[in-house]
Amino acid sequence: MLKLLKNRTFNIPTARHLSVLGIETSCDDTGIALLNEKGEVLGNVLNSQQKFHTRYGGIIPPRAQDLHRAKIAEVFEQCMREAQMTPDQLDAIGVTTRPGLPLSLLVGTRFAKYIARKYKKPLVPVHHMEAHALQARMEQHIPYPFLCLLISGGHSQLVFVRSAKQFALLGESLDDAPGEAFDKIARRLRLYLLPKYLHWNGGQAIEDAAKSAQNPAAFEFPLPLARERTCNFSFAGIKNNSFRSIRFAEKQQGIPPDGIIKNYHDFCAGLLAAVSRHLMNRTQRALEFTLPWFGESPRALVVSGGVANNDYIFNDLAHLAAHYECQAYRPSKKYCSDNGVMIAWNALEQITEGANCLRWDYDAVNICGKAALGECMLDAVAEANIKCKWVQASKWRAWGEVQAVSSII
Ligand code: KG4
Ligand code: ZN
Repeated sequence: MLKLLKNRTFNIPTARHLSVLGIETSCDDTGIALLNEKGEVLGNVLNSQQKFHTRYGGIIPPRAQDLHRAKIAEVFEQCMREAQMTPDQLDAIGVTTRPGLPLSLLVGTRFAKYIARKYKKPLVPVHHMEAHALQARMEQHIPYPFLCLLISGGHSQLVFVRSAKQFALLGESLDDAPGEAFDKIARRLRLYLLPKYLHWNGGQAIEDAAKSAQNPAAFEFPLPLARERTCNFSFAGIKNNSFRSIRFAEKQQGIPPDGIIKNYHDFCAGLLAAVSRHLMNRTQRALEFTLPWFGESPRALVVSGGVANNDYIFNDLAHLAAHYECQAYRPSKKYCSDNGVMIAWNALEQITEGANCLRWDYDAVNICGKAALGECMLDAVAEANIKCKWVQASKWRAWGEVQAVSSII
């Protein structure tokens, strides 16, 4: 990253040194971080609401708002203390304004406006998914352009990224997001009954449980949108199929309402393989579609968002990318999920591209629960009608060299 920024000049006057704050409150994490112009993290504080929401089986937006409100000032002060700086030393304040839970977005945006007004600083509105997409550039040398797979609790998107502000949307989920499916299935499986997983998110628990599978082919899962030559995703079929399989296994094994099926490890391994296969197939088509767009530039695939934490999925995608002489990247794990650093980094990237992102008209900075990502190219992908010879999943398996995924599905 340092290499990336070294030769750039910032377009804000007098900015020899920059301190950019990032405020993230789009969902259930209150994250605030402070970066300098080199992208070095000076302060980073994250208050997760996970423990609270798992008790109620999902995020309740008004409660999430209350918790953001209760914590945001403390998180900000802690971040400034960690950085050993005062708010008047800030140069800009990046804040997630879209997309996300409106009640949650409001808290961060109002707080950002309050700080901006009080200390006379410019705001930089940040798109949450654009921030996920660029985050890996903070720690690794990844020049533009690159293909990016965004997989989180709210989204599943394939985008081609040409610059900090130029995105082309190639595919998106037609229903659930993969993280959402993992969370719902883990809950239905009742993994939270196991003390180890009580406060883990669903995806993380499923990944961990899969590692001890004996027979990952024990459960069958559908391959979504198999006939559709697009880069779109669908996880509702896998989710509903999972609910049915769990119900059937519970009956067969005589599991009480507060119990877990015996072979849940196998179930998790099969589920992970099915989700990974679907992600691989759609990403493969996106790679074929965008290969000419790379020209002479090195080919790069960036995987980001909470689900990018998953080693099993990332290894499969890296294996696929290698087949196309493409290098796969993801942010380090502490930055895959929502955090303030990614918002500060995105603001810094925007500032690096031009000072017109700086907003002094605070009242005109608004939140938006739903927000498109880049130029929509979904029709162009469908029209290209690309037929792929599927790259088989890597032999790498979290649970050992048990079986190739292709023979499971
Ligand atoms: O990006 P993120 O922190 O929040 C959103 O913007 O949605 O993603 C959260 C999602 C959750 O649904 C969680 O289940 C998933 O990321 N996740 C994982 C893993 N860690 C978090 N999914 C699969 N494997 C993991 N290791
Ligand atoms: Zn996110």
